[in-house]
Order: sequence, then C-alpha cells, then structure tokens
Amino acid sequence: MNMRRRDLNKYNKLVKEYDEHPLVQSMKTYVQHGTTTTYDHSVRVAKLSYLLNTKLRLHADEQILVPAAFLHDFFLYDWHDEPKVSVRNFTAMHGFTHPKKAADNAKEVFDINDETYDAISSHMWPLTITKVPKSKEAKILCAADKMVALKETFEKNRFFHKKG
Ligand SMILES: [Fe+2]
Ligand SMILES: [Fe+2]
Repeated sequence: MNMRRRDLNKYNKLVKEYDEHPLVQSMKTYVQHGTTTTYDHSVRVAKLSYLLNTKLRLHADEQILVPAAFLHDFFLYDWHDEPKVSVRNFTAMHGFTHPKKAADNAKEVFDINDETYDAISSHMWPLTITKVPKSKEAKILCAADKMVALKETFEKNRFFHKKG
C-alpha cells in the first residue's frame, strides 16, 4: 500500500511502540488469508484505516484508530491449526472469539485504553452481532478490515488472475 512520505512517517510513529514488541513480530509466523501473514494483514489494515481517516477527513482519533487497527488481530495463534471439532466449527469459533482474545492480549501487553479495546473487540461485526462498532474509530477499523480481507482472499484465488 503506497503512502506519501509524510503519511508514512506519521503512521510509523503511531505504531512504533507496538511494532517493536516480539509478540507483535511473532505474527509474522501466522498465516491469515492465503499467503498473507497476520502481521502483514495487520499492517495493511492499519495503513488503510489511517488513509481512510485522512483522505476522507473522517476526523477519527488516530492515536486510537491506528493502534487498534494494528493490534486488531493480536490473538497470537494460527487459526488454521488442528481443528478441535471440525473445520467448519473451528473456523466459525475463531471468527467469533478472536476479537476479544486480541483485545485482551493488547490490554495485557500494552495496557491499551478502553476506546482502543472496544474498537478491537467489535471489528468482526456483524458476525459478532452484539458487538456493534460504536465509535468512529471502531467503524473505520471494521470497514478497513473487511476491505483488506476481501482483497487478500481474492488475491490467493487463481480464478481471479485468469485472463480473458
Ligand atoms: Fe480479525
Ligand atoms: Fe483482520
């Protein structure tokens, strides 16, 4: 995702504290969608959230938005691992449970504030039907995550790369 130098510098400052942590770096070992790691996915969602907020002049608080987006999938496991019941159940379970897990981890490791915690917890809405994104930051994160996930899922599908 291309960013102008000024935006990139600002983005880097907003994530620096988190990016340097070994647990965040460990997300490079987990696969998210297709061939994308959870780390790369998180960077994309954080950059897109930043850009949506800036370019569309949404006036969300970037000190909440960007860290929340960067840590939104900080659940720290590979969700493709051995299913406990069946692939279908496990995948569904991960979808429902990982936002809270990610928010709890972020709270424990970085002592994030309540706004950041809520934005992370609600990023899978409407799957997590009762966890509606309420703040501007939560809504931007929820939308950015879906846009990036869709792109990553399509990129891995060869059907979409066929010409003619
Ligand atoms: Fe997620
Ligand atoms: Fe995500």
